[in-house]
Parts: sequence; C-alpha cells; structure tokens
Amino acid sequence: MSTLLHVDSSPMGAYSVSRHLSSTFTEHWQKGHAGGTVVTRDLSMSGLVSITAAWVAAAYTPVEARTEEQKAVLAQSDALVGELQAADEIAIGVAMHNFGVPSVLKQWIDLIARVGVTFAYVDGKPQGLLTGKKITFLIATGGTYGPGTATASLNFVEPYLKTIFGFLGVSDVTFHTAGGAAALNYGANREEFLQPHDEAVAALAAA
Ligand SMILES: Cc1cc2nc3c(=O)[nH]c(=O)nc-3n(C[C@H](O)[C@H](O)[C@H](O)COP(=O)(O)O)c2cc1C
Repeated sequence: MSTLLHVDSSPMGAYSVSRHLSSTFTEHWQKGHAGGTVVTRDLSMSGLVSITAAWVAAAYTPVEARTEEQKAVLAQSDALVGELQAADEIAIGVAMHNFGVPSVLKQWIDLIARVGVTFAYVDGKPQGLLTGKKITFLIATGGTYGPGTATASLNFVEPYLKTIFGFLGVSDVTFHTAGGAAALNYGANREEFLQPHDEAVAALAAA
C-alpha cells in the first residue's frame, strides 16, 4: 500500500491558499489510493530545532561512534527523515515568503538533508539517496511570476525546491502554483480564485 506524506508550511491556517491546495491534493490522492496511508507534518506546529554546531558534529560523526547526547541531538531529524523515507509520494504546501520558502520549510529541509542518509559524496560527486519518490509542490504566491515575465527572476521558490530535492535524489517533481493570491486581500472571490487550481490539483493527485 502507498504512503503519502503531506507537509504544510503556511502559518495562515484556514485562510492559507497553499494549505487549501495541499488538502485538495490529499483528498483526491486518497480517492485514488484506497487503503493508502496519509502521514501529515504541519511544520508551523512542529517546534523544529535549529541547526547548531553540536547538530553538525553529530551528523558528521559515524552512527556507531555517536554518543547518547549526539543521538538525542539528531532525534528530531531522524524522525523527519524516517517519515520521508517511508513515503512513496510527498505533497508539500508552500507559501511564498519574501520571494523564497517560509523559514519553517527551510528549517525542515536543513533537518532532512543528512549526509550519508539522504545524500552522499561518491568519488567526490554528490549522490541523492531519496530515490524512487514523487513530490508535488502546491505553492501560493501573492504576486505573479510566470515564465518569461519581468518578475520571473524574483521567484526563488521553484528553482530552490527543484535544486535541493534534485540534490537529494528526487527527480519526479511537479509544481502547481496559484499566483496572484494577493487579490484575495482586495476582494477577489475566494471560490472563483481557487476553482481552476482545485481542478488542476485534483488531476495531479490522480496522475
Ligand atoms: C511574511 C509574508 C511574506 C510574503 N512575501 C511575498 C513575496 O515575497 N512575494 C509575493 O508574491 N507574495 C508574498 N507574500 C504573499 C503570499 O505569498 C500569499 O499571501 C500566499 O497566499 C501565501 O500562501 P498561503 O496563503 O498558503 O499562506 C507574503 C506573505 C507573507 C505573510
């Protein structure tokens, strides 16, 4: 049976567009995967630890040589990596914050990018170890950053996510971006705004 890891990063709760889209994805994924398992990870509620010198030292210490203290320092990271490794598919809701990803999502990425676990250097070359997984990013941006537009180069969300997950070995990456969500703050109808995105995301979940 398949497992979907559903991750959210927006702090905006029920008002969040990316959370709405990731929920739509999961709902349709469940319809197409009877008996499948969904694991949710809400990064805004997770109390993620920050990377410290002790964390780095522990991560670079071989497993068999780690002290009990080092094992404890890595415990949260180990759990998050375990969730990823156990998932066949991953859906991640992403809010654009200051042209990039929310800080909690960056923090999560820092915790799941683990040398010898999710990536390694083989003959001096990086090799991603998170292979055979499919990731769909459901992104919401206040402005619009379509390819070829004057603002496209300001969008660091998709390029960053493609780079880091490619580095970690995930090659099956799909993006769906709801651009122009700022219109919702100025009276645009929420249902009308979301409807074409819901349809597209439902199709992605069924793919
Ligand atoms: C702290 C913060 C920073 C933001 N920075 C940007 C930005 O740089 N560019 C942009 O187009 N929209 C920006 N926005 C607007 C959000 O991308 C937009 O509200 C989007 O819907 C966020 O996703 P969410 O609804 O899932 O929270 C920002 C919003 C917040 C709260």
